[in-house]
Amino acid sequence: MSLTVSTHPEETIAAGRVLGARLVPGTVVALAGDLGAGKTHFVRGLVAGWGGTGPATSPTFTLLHEYATPRGPVFHLDLYRARSAAEVWDAAHDEMSEATGLLVIEWADRFPELVPPGACRVSLTAAGEGRREITIEP
Ligand SMILES: Nc1ncnc2c1ncn2[C@@H]1O[C@H](COP(=O)(O)OP(=O)(O)OP(=O)(O)O)[C@@H](O)[C@H]1O
Ligand SMILES: [Mg+2]
Repeated sequence: MSLTVSTHPEETIAAGRVLGARLVPGTVVALAGDLGAGKTHFVRGLVAGWGGTGPATSPTFTLLHEYATPRGPVFHLDLYRARSAAEVWDAAHDEMSEATGLLVIEWADRFPELVPPGACRVSLTAAGEGRREITIEP
């Protein structure tokens, strides 16, 4: 488990980039954190570190975003507006079973049953103006 303190959005992106560069294909990253905690900034870095190009946008109205990268697809699920685990599974079971790329689940704590046991868990917490604590397990 590691704790990183970020004092700027760019530092949160950088922390995501460091993790993204270390992940192997098939990894699921489960992201937790309140509104505005910096999850989408972290994902932007994660996709870049993994080897993707193009920005990771905030998928506010879309359950699933996909980024094509030379290392395989990155699927970014956002559970903020999801109503049930079954709805998510019905919409995205193919992507959630994909073993060649990365699966990033934002608001993973809303439906813990969708997070596989081996997932890498990242939690972001606001700790004052511009300050965020980022916990990564394992
Ligand atoms: N150290 C920091 N790291 C990341 N974001 C920060 C930091 N300090 C301030 N911020 C601000 O907090 C907001 C984080 O936005 P972001 O979309 O990444 O959060 P989020 O957790 O994805 O939000 P949502 O729950 O709405 O999806 C931005 O407005 C950003 O400028
Ligand atoms: Mg977000």
